[in-house]
Amino acid sequence: MKRRSFLAAGAAALVTPAIGRGAFAAEAGAPLPIPEIWDLSDGASTDLVARTGRASFLSGRDTSTIGYSQNFLGPVLRVRRGSIARPRVINELNRLVTAHWHGLHVPGEADGGPQLAIAPGRDWAPELEIDQPETTLWYHSHIHGETGPQVYQGLAGMMLLTDPDAGGDALPSEWGVDDIPLIIQDRTFDGSGQFAYSSAGPNRMMGFRGDRILVNGAIQPVASVAQGVVRLRILNGSNARIYRLSFDDGRDFRQIASDAGYLSRPSNISQFTLAPAERVELLVDLSDGAPVKLLSEADDNSPMAGMMGDTMGGMMGDMMGGGSPQAVDGSGRFEVMSLSPDRPTNDLSMPENLPLGPGAIPGEPVRRRAFDLSMSSMMGGGMGNSGGGMMGGGVMNRGGGMMGGGMMDRNHGGMMGGGMSLGINGQPYSMDRIDADVGLGDVEIWEVRADMMQHPFHVHGTSFQVLSANGRPVDFDTMGLKDVALVDQSMEIKISFDRTAPSAAPYMLHCHILEHEDAGMMAQFTVG
Ligand code: C2O
Ligand code: CU
Ligand code: CU
Repeated sequence: MKRRSFLAAGAAALVTPAIGRGAFAAEAGAPLPIPEIWDLSDGASTDLVARTGRASFLSGRDTSTIGYSQNFLGPVLRVRRGSIARPRVINELNRLVTAHWHGLHVPGEADGGPQLAIAPGRDWAPELEIDQPETTLWYHSHIHGETGPQVYQGLAGMMLLTDPDAGGDALPSEWGVDDIPLIIQDRTFDGSGQFAYSSAGPNRMMGFRGDRILVNGAIQPVASVAQGVVRLRILNGSNARIYRLSFDDGRDFRQIASDAGYLSRPSNISQFTLAPAERVELLVDLSDGAPVKLLSEADDNSPMAGMMGDTMGGMMGDMMGGGSPQAVDGSGRFEVMSLSPDRPTNDLSMPENLPLGPGAIPGEPVRRRAFDLSMSSMMGGGMGNSGGGMMGGGVMNRGGGMMGGGMMDRNHGGMMGGGMSLGINGQPYSMDRIDADVGLGDVEIWEVRADMMQHPFHVHGTSFQVLSANGRPVDFDTMGLKDVALVDQSMEIKISFDRTAPSAAPYMLHCHILEHEDAGMMAQFTVG
């Protein structure tokens, strides 16, 4: 299999001398790199090598990176329903890594979770039996306590799961021309052009947010696309940043898929929220030939927003990097990338019907479980425990309230400062403890509650249906089946597993803010 540098296209365009903010220029405007597709559907063993690399994000400076068989990130792995994919993951790094197939329905032994760490110099060759609806997935390393830094440095890639019987022929399908993969990530560079990262201090609560936006490993690139209907497969591959995406001219577009496949009723929208690890597929009509910018609003998700209301929380978010990396207008929006429809038109129109997507989860629930994503802690002399801590005097709660006096209450009380303890149902993750046993094929309702801020909740090995959010029913037709969903205050999901996970290779459930996950906001369970 040929190994071409992922960043070749982008790197060639980086010729401008260093100017502007910081020691090195942020090279916005390079061509969007299009990761190559490696097809695993013929069942042949394919080597995926976790290795170090160097990439040119900034002019005049190489950044040390890691990747799967590339300098930064990995190839797009295409797998076909009804076939067996045989990746062989080789670890050429000097630390433990895994390759977790996020969203893929495979048994625990093939899932690539923390128990399946690959030692330096060793390899891991799972057999992936592909059987689920057509969709866009991804893969990334998943070492407990190290997922944040490893994904940040580059151990992640996209996956395409295809189903020849789904009937996707009417959709744009020319890779890199009208079928465009977009892996959105935020990064911060230090004074010598290296990735800066810390999960300590405030980042433990806030999650790490960078001040540069990368798409497919290029800073605010330009995608040269067909003048016609263009399909965007967007993955939020950031550690913590939540994007609220729209186009600068306000044009609307059609959402055709969410995490686990096509929607049963596509919806026309002009803005959407994408939390870490979520995917969305859009069709946007660029037949007018006008260039458009993809913009995001600043992310103000923070414990302070939860406890003090939006103004203070927003200020806190800005201070901690949640705010605007490069504001482009007065509303605090910033540019993610731009699209230039300068290639020949594809003459496609918006399809009336989509390929067959996943249906709602059938069957009557046999069990309910509750998962509290908890951030309890203490500050000052106050008590922090499940059920409410104290500080000063006065009442604090989510969405408003005051500081400087009284009780704090939001599922679990507590404040930042002292010892922030992240966990699920009050316990930080332990590799040695199984937190739940789920019966194979059982339909369950899980109630997930978020503490102090919004948390993207993810479950391995299956896809789930969101029934309600903050007590209000959610329409399945427009949300589709998910494997990660942003929990504001509470969420009810309907879930069932059709693959097994033994205690030696259990499935994970966790917050996908990687700093929260690494700090213990994760649990593990068996299926079988
Ligand atoms: Cu995307 Cu447990 O992971
Ligand atoms: Cu996962
Ligand atoms: Cu979280």
